Amino acid sequence: MMECSWKVLLLMVFTSLGIQYTAIKSFRMTPAPPCSNMAAENRCGHIKDNIRRALCEDVNSQRSKKHILILATSRSGSSFLGQLFNQNSDIFYLFEPLHTVWNLFIKSNDQDTIDKRSLVGAYRDLLHNLYDCDFYALENYIKPVPEDHVAPSLFRSGASNALCSPPVCNQSQRMDERECLNKCKRVNLTLASTACRYKHMAIKTIRIPDINNLRALAEDPRLNLKIIHLVRDPRAVLASRIATFSDYRPFQIWNSSGKKPQKVDMELIGNTCIDYSTSVETGFSRPPWLKGKYMLVRYEDIAMDPVKKANEIYNFVGLEWKKSLSMWIEQNTKNVTTYYNKFTTKRDSSKTAENWRLHLNFNIVQAVQQICNKTLSQLGYRVVDSVQQLNNLPQSLVEPRMFLPFV
Ligand SMILES: *[C@@H]1O[C@H](CO)[C@@H](O)[C@H](O)[C@H]1NC(C)=O
Ligand SMILES: *[C@@H]1O[C@H](CO)[C@@H](O)[C@H](O)[C@H]1NC(C)=O
Ligand SMILES: *[C@@H]1O[C@H](CO)[C@@H](O)[C@H](O)[C@H]1NC(C)=O
Ligand SMILES: *[C@@H]1O[C@H](CO)[C@@H](O)[C@H](O)[C@H]1NC(C)=O
Ligand SMILES: *[C@@H]1O[C@H](CO)[C@@H](O)[C@H](O)[C@H]1NC(C)=O
Repeated sequence: MMECSWKVLLLMVFTSLGIQYTAIKSFRMTPAPPCSNMAAENRCGHIKDNIRRALCEDVNSQRSKKHILILATSRSGSSFLGQLFNQNSDIFYLFEPLHTVWNLFIKSNDQDTIDKRSLVGAYRDLLHNLYDCDFYALENYIKPVPEDHVAPSLFRSGASNALCSPPVCNQSQRMDERECLNKCKRVNLTLASTACRYKHMAIKTIRIPDINNLRALAEDPRLNLKIIHLVRDPRAVLASRIATFSDYRPFQIWNSSGKKPQKVDMELIGNTCIDYSTSVETGFSRPPWLKGKYMLVRYEDIAMDPVKKANEIYNFVGLEWKKSLSMWIEQNTKNVTTYYNKFTTKRDSSKTAENWRLHLNFNIVQAVQQICNKTLSQLGYRVVDSVQQLNNLPQSLVEPRMFLPFV
């Protein structure tokens, strides 16, 4: 209760920046609300005046609301991390909403002429709008423009439980992604905006190059940004991309023949390493704007002990752990099913985290080690000097490291 009162006080100081004095006064007269996870809806329900109630609800939901961002790269195991939030009904989780922006830019521009700065700016603005529960902002990037605020479809909307359940989609049973896409393809953005209001928001993206692009969001006092920076051994990332994406075809040829083709774009993985390094160097330097907002997580550490790592992540974000999450993790990490989908999270994670070592040609490993050597040492991944070392799985290449969150 003590802690609660000073939070309310702080909130009032903070609110006074934006809201007129009369509004503040009404808060002062309202008894301090109990500090629980009770929806703001309930806490403000007794206020008769509509405007006052709306203000109370806004401020109350804003106060405790977390704005979580999973900053990841493709094939770094972010789907699993996303599920830690998606499986929590207190959280509105979105899977790569920035794809909509990217898609429009790609379609209307030549790849080489895309202005990266305006693209990243558009990403940042959309993130801000979504954290603010303004889903209409998505309409700017959907062609043709949605009628009556209903999007005909949204990228990977089926991967978001919040978009597959009431009030956004009138389905009561749990569905998998495909089933949800069938039943909830059209998304009423008004409903999404409303449903989002009383929940924490978590967004997963692979589109933000590095953490410095998020500075404006981190500094915005209206947001309570929590960045979870997910990294993975770049050699493993590359192996996974080779097995998944067609633009990695030259690597595929290199991998199976052992001979490096003429045209191999090493930047495809080199840039990932540069982005990793830029972000962790920023994070490690502990700039004031990241205080309380940055946690570095290695995919391999999650795979080793998912429940422990997940608890640490929840602690950092400031969310209560739920028993159902432990159960979900148990079912989805210790279960080798015959059904193998490259985008699935259902694998025996502790055993597969270093499996790439049996699937990547040593020449490629050496090439990656050369261009990524700084990144590898920063993140605690050991380099190998021989095929024998590479294939000797019992000798892990993941150094035990503690990356404490910046609190
Ligand atoms: C949602 O579904 C239930 C049962 O299927 C139905 O009674 C209700 O009218 C539906 N609500 C809306 C808004 O479509
Ligand atoms: C979307 O949801 C809102 C809020 O419930 C509703 O008023 C509106 O009619 C819905 N739009 C359509 C096109 O169904
Ligand atoms: C690389 O080549 C080896 C041998 O042909 C194969 O077993 C492995 O699956 C390939 N790796 C990838 C990522 O495609
Ligand atoms: C493994 O997955 C199957 C299918 O999803 C499920 O029925 C089963 O309960 C799971 N087993 C464990 C030990 O979680
Ligand atoms: C990475 O490689 C470069 C060039 O070979 C070398 O100068 C540098 O010391 C290496 N850095 C680390 C951290 O190993």
